[in-house]
Amino acid sequence: MDHRKEIHDQVLNAANKDELREVYSEWADAYDHDLVNEMGYVAPTITVNEFQFYLHNNQVAILDAGCGTGLVGELLSKKGFQNIDGLDYSPKMLKKAEEKQVYRDLTQADLTSSLNIPDNQYDAVISVGTFTCAHVGPVAFNELLRVTKPGGYICFTVRDTAWEEDQYHLKMNVLEKEGRWKRIKADTANYIKQEGSKCKVCVYQVT
Ligand SMILES: C[S@@+](CC[C@H](N)C(=O)[O-])C[C@H]1O[C@@H](n2cnc3c(N)ncnc32)[C@H](O)[C@@H]1O
Repeated sequence: MDHRKEIHDQVLNAANKDELREVYSEWADAYDHDLVNEMGYVAPTITVNEFQFYLHNNQVAILDAGCGTGLVGELLSKKGFQNIDGLDYSPKMLKKAEEKQVYRDLTQADLTSSLNIPDNQYDAVISVGTFTCAHVGPVAFNELLRVTKPGGYICFTVRDTAWEEDQYHLKMNVLEKEGRWKRIKADTANYIKQEGSKCKVCVYQVT
């Protein structure tokens, strides 16, 4: 099997958090090249373009949740955004993100637990490639909502297979009925071109 497909399969089928962290630790150095150049991972570009459509002020405080090696931070920085914090639970991925020198701050944390971030800290949260199989489920929305200011935006992808498996729409609709956020859009887009996978690119406004 192609080594890239092999490691990507391990990522999507990790049995637990420790195993997932281990696989990302092995993959961190080759991640950008393998996923973007060889496999056609287009989700960061698509999502950052969508994000920019709603956020016009380059001074906004942004949390890149599950920042990985910093592909999203790099794209945001190229578009002029300056106040970007990154959060991920893999130290090796965070180290690669640090090398890109586009983040104001980088933190190791688990998105499925309580975050050590005050309420209403960010104007916007962006999260690409993190809501996927064996990674982070819809439970993380509660904390992302808490740290985002009212009127702020949460922009994220959900991989197509995870969307079905984890019944994302149910949790997202409950949060909307509770008046926590408002759906701006949830469109289907390409995710990883070489494997033909799709994702939902979602934009929600915090109410
Ligand atoms: C496919 S990568 C996406 C990284 C980056 N956003 C991108 O688009 O390239 C998924 C990232 O989610 C992180 N991750 C997985 N589970 C996590 C959790 N529970 N808390 C925080 N980060 C997590 C992984 O360490 C990995 O860096």
